[in-house]
Amino acid sequence: MVLYYSATGNTAFIARLISEKLGDELLDLSERVKTGDTSVISSERPFVICSPVYVCEMPFFLRDWLKKVSFSGSRDVYFIFTSGGYAGISGSLAKGIIRRKGMHYMGHAEFKMPRNYIASNTYPELEREEILRRISTSRDKTDEAAECIRKGERLRARYVFLFEKIITLPFTPIWIKLKQPSKDFHTTEKCIGCGKCAKVCPINNIRMENKRPVWIKSCAHCMACIGNCPTEAIEYGNITQHKVKYNIRKYLDN
Ligand SMILES: Cc1cc2nc3c(=O)[nH]c(=O)nc-3n(C[C@H](O)[C@H](O)[C@H](O)COP(=O)(O)O)c2cc1C
Repeated sequence: MVLYYSATGNTAFIARLISEKLGDELLDLSERVKTGDTSVISSERPFVICSPVYVCEMPFFLRDWLKKVSFSGSRDVYFIFTSGGYAGISGSLAKGIIRRKGMHYMGHAEFKMPRNYIASNTYPELEREEILRRISTSRDKTDEAAECIRKGERLRARYVFLFEKIITLPFTPIWIKLKQPSKDFHTTEKCIGCGKCAKVCPINNIRMENKRPVWIKSCAHCMACIGNCPTEAIEYGNITQHKVKYNIRKYLDN
């Protein structure tokens, strides 16, 4: 069974391709994560968990959900990470969680996709050609990952050095606390009050008041609200004003 969480479509895209190639079931975890549903998930075939990378790790809300959920049937778990190019220690952390469940960690694969994090000016916006190139290269790479999983072989990814773990482990929680406040999110006059932003927020951090979204507290900065707004009415301070509101849908033919 291929399971995924995706805020702006990259991970959903890769997960769907892998599930098609394996001829296996596809499960969108958004609703389960959002509602805290950790009821048992069963599959006789290996579990393939697909996740984006946030600050060198799996998103904290997915990690917390994964720690609590139970799996029955197969004991093998693969991971697929999509990132903007650096998946950090996502694999090592995933391995720890899976082993603590008494299951077999079967390795992970990393896919370099377009970076969806537009609420930061750290990285320049990618040109459309580069976005299309990353999507196309990743699409091709799903063959290799699916083949490995079908044969029951381990997925092999980049070696993670000890210094990466030492830097990332304390850094990420601090970064999330300091750099991911919600207060700068706001809507423009384009907002139609549809509430889609509240619906797609994986941590229920958006409340609708007078047909307008209100961001409650520090959030995951997943970009689901910005990237899925039907009228592109959500901005983050003045950082996102002139940027393309990333969603992979804009780059796919259908
Ligand atoms: C809050 C946040 C943090 C991110 N941190 C990283 C990172 O550390 N390294 C990286 O390569 N990409 C990073 N990214 C980019 C995403 O991992 C990448 O675009 C991913 O494919 C998005 O998946 P999705 O469209 O399924 O949500 C980050 C994105 C967000 C929103």
